[in-house]
Amino acid sequence: MRIVDIITQKRDGASLSREEIDFFIKGYVAGDVPDYQAAAFCMALYFRGMTSEETTHLTEAMAFSGVTLDLHDVASFIVDKHSSGGVGDKTTLVVGPMVASLGVPVGKMSGRGLSFSGGTLDKLESIPGFNVSLTIEEFKHQLREIGVVVAGQTHELAPADGKLYALRDVTGTVPSLPLIASSIMSKKIAAGADAIVLDVKVGKGAFMETLPDAVELAELMAQIGRGLGRKMTAVIGDMSQPLGLAAGNALEVVEAVETLHGRGPEDFRQHCVDVAAEMLLIAGATTTPKESRERAAATLTDGSAWAKFRQFVAAQGGDLRFVDDPTLLPRAPFVDALRAPEAGYVARADAREIGFTVVDLGGGRAKKGDPVDPAVGVVLAENGKIGGRVEAGDPLLWVHAATAESLAAALTRLATAYEFSPEPVSPPPVIHRILR
Ligand code: URA
Repeated sequence: MRIVDIITQKRDGASLSREEIDFFIKGYVAGDVPDYQAAAFCMALYFRGMTSEETTHLTEAMAFSGVTLDLHDVASFIVDKHSSGGVGDKTTLVVGPMVASLGVPVGKMSGRGLSFSGGTLDKLESIPGFNVSLTIEEFKHQLREIGVVVAGQTHELAPADGKLYALRDVTGTVPSLPLIASSIMSKKIAAGADAIVLDVKVGKGAFMETLPDAVELAELMAQIGRGLGRKMTAVIGDMSQPLGLAAGNALEVVEAVETLHGRGPEDFRQHCVDVAAEMLLIAGATTTPKESRERAAATLTDGSAWAKFRQFVAAQGGDLRFVDDPTLLPRAPFVDALRAPEAGYVARADAREIGFTVVDLGGGRAKKGDPVDPAVGVVLAENGKIGGRVEAGDPLLWVHAATAESLAAALTRLATAYEFSPEPVSPPPVIHRILR
């Protein structure tokens, strides 16, 4: 078998066999397939797609490219959640501790920023000392002791996704249904959870822009998970505008800390409660959605989710001084507001433009392995979200930048992210649908 033939076959729209997919993944992980061939493969796949059978084979090849964890010596039932990617999506930082504080273990493998979407690992690393590169023993030990752990792909765990993820980020091959489904599900299968809540985002700031596409992605991932013996639920959440107010690594940690203290933006709080409630339900810790939401919400006001978050940060080496006093987190030197050019109701606050602006500011990567600047990003004003009423000159958002030049460029770009209406505009629902 030759890699170039596999690429050519996919380029011409043919289906690949399980053996061909395995050969490609094994060769890429072993270092025999160079990045340029892997990039060509991803681009062919982006244009030609895959059948659900091929996607299942790709997921399995990626999941079994390293070790797959069996966590049953640690806990009898483990839940996980995964977002399909969005702007301002700091959900894991809040729901992991919420669910673990109710005694349901959460063992999770996360990713880094991808295209315009932020990544949980980059957000957590803005807390000085926080370590996302855990050995299997460390992963299990923390799950046993603290009940919540978040790690990245390693050479042991889902190495194929580790390599492909970084490559896709910088080769324009992220928004492909089979590549997203296999990336997410391979991590989930490798990390060993018994049940998975998929947090599938839809809208301009998501990789699936329409509800039918988001549902198709959710159903495909659920089918792959069930085929491998996992319990699956999918929450389809809105991503036409950023989730919450903050987009940018350290800025999102600040917002997560606020939310864990029972404050924070209402759409983000509601989203966290809904995702956590689904995790509790699927784990059998609660019996009705209403009970589940009430118990999840209580963890944000009674201090239990915050206490669990501190344990989690400390266990992964994070310096607690920076979460106890988030003003100590990295801060950008240049901050200025984008102001409304006219009075009206916000009709568009384009999450994709905001996400790409954060990347341009240095919060994401232009090339594989680029460092990210934890301090930069964007914070929306409360009435800078869809449906908000503004007068001319009111701030819509604030840009946090490393230089005066990047600040000016961001403000120019972001002016195109907004539209206004003279008539009242309804904000989009936080959750469009739940598929249990
Ligand atoms: N999250 C992932 O882990 N992979 C993707 O491709 C998109 C979101």
